[in-house]
Amino acid sequence: MTDTFQTVTVDLGARTYPIHVGPAARNMLPDCLANAGDISDVVIIADQTVANLHLERVQAVLEQPARVLTFPPGEASKSLTRAETLFNELADARADRKACIVALGGGVAGDLAGFVAASWLRGIRFIQMPTTILAAVDASVGGKTGVNLATGKNLVGAFHQPIAVLVDLELIATLPEETFRAGLAESVKHAAIRDPDLLTWHEQHLSAILKHDPTALTELLARNCAIKAAVVAADEREAGLRAILNYGHTLGHAFEHLYNYQLAHGECVGLGMIGENTIAVARGELDLAVAHRIRDLLAALRLPVALPEPLEPAAVWSTCQLDKKNRAGKVNFVWIRALGEPARVDNVTAAEVADAVATLQAG
Ligand SMILES: NC(=O)c1ccc[n+]([C@@H]2O[C@H](COP(=O)([O-])OP(=O)(O)OC[C@H]3O[C@@H](n4cnc5c(N)ncnc54)[C@H](O)[C@@H]3O)[C@@H](O)[C@H]2O)c1
Ligand SMILES: [Zn+2]
Repeated sequence: MTDTFQTVTVDLGARTYPIHVGPAARNMLPDCLANAGDISDVVIIADQTVANLHLERVQAVLEQPARVLTFPPGEASKSLTRAETLFNELADARADRKACIVALGGGVAGDLAGFVAASWLRGIRFIQMPTTILAAVDASVGGKTGVNLATGKNLVGAFHQPIAVLVDLELIATLPEETFRAGLAESVKHAAIRDPDLLTWHEQHLSAILKHDPTALTELLARNCAIKAAVVAADEREAGLRAILNYGHTLGHAFEHLYNYQLAHGECVGLGMIGENTIAVARGELDLAVAHRIRDLLAALRLPVALPEPLEPAAVWSTCQLDKKNRAGKVNFVWIRALGEPARVDNVTAAEVADAVATLQAG
């Protein structure tokens, strides 16, 4: 593998940071630490599965071996209990304000270790090393960190930007194929809301993407990070624009919930985009050809384009009503009116959702 990588900058004034994407982006870790200056200790917080696969590779680039704290893989680790365990481990290790945390793993590692970094001694520096496609294109960029409560996901957290993000393709290479493909739905989402050329690029590079070609993946992930970085730079704390990232997510979250989280988030978001497009087309707001293009691309990326099990339309609607994006009793949707033209809509009806579910049921 070569040492080539692409760099995207997240432009946030004093909190500006680089995202390095490439086959061995971990090689940039010493530089990132050196640029941060005055770091006492490096503490890697890693998902146990990812640690077993990749810790040696990451440690090998460091001059001094880092301290390592691991946690069991899976969403259940995004908890206050797990965060408290990590705080106690940081206390045992006497981690001071100059310690730097490295979050190694998927979105769970990033959100959990980021939250720990945001809170430990009122906030220490941290670096994201995302190892899933979803974390690379979405979760690791933007500074949203947090944990779940029994009553809901991501209810406790903080905005805390990393000092760098390293997207290393050799670490992502061990991802199970289904998890890899599910993350691509977020890439289609980014293309649809912000970059029609990227949608075409997906269509033109399908076989390279599906073969995990390193040059194609570097390009794909860097372009996605650039889209997320631009949206975050314009709206760091989700006052407005950042909401466009929720395209496909109102129906997507409802599907995720109703399938008991057995269908991957990305797969549900893909279905959500198709369903929301159906409503937009029926209203005459979106060209049928664009809706077909998005559905065909998701299918070509081997993502589901029909509901795997029938769902009760009324249940989908009532789950949409629980979505935390809702304000003043209205269900909020974000869809597109054309490629690159996201729109926020709050007057969708139960009947429209029922039609979308029926269309998705038929495939
Ligand atoms: N902060 C944000 O802006 C943001 C945005 C989107 C999603 N999220 C959060 O991200 C989380 C989901 O992230 P995820 O899908 O990456 O899940 P995850 O972190 O649970 O990873 C999925 C699975 O893949 C395994 N894995 C990770 N990397 C691997 C690798 N390279 N090789 C083999 N196995 C590997 C993990 O052990 C885990 O079992 C959710 O909690 C979601 O809320 C956060
Ligand atoms: Zn998502």
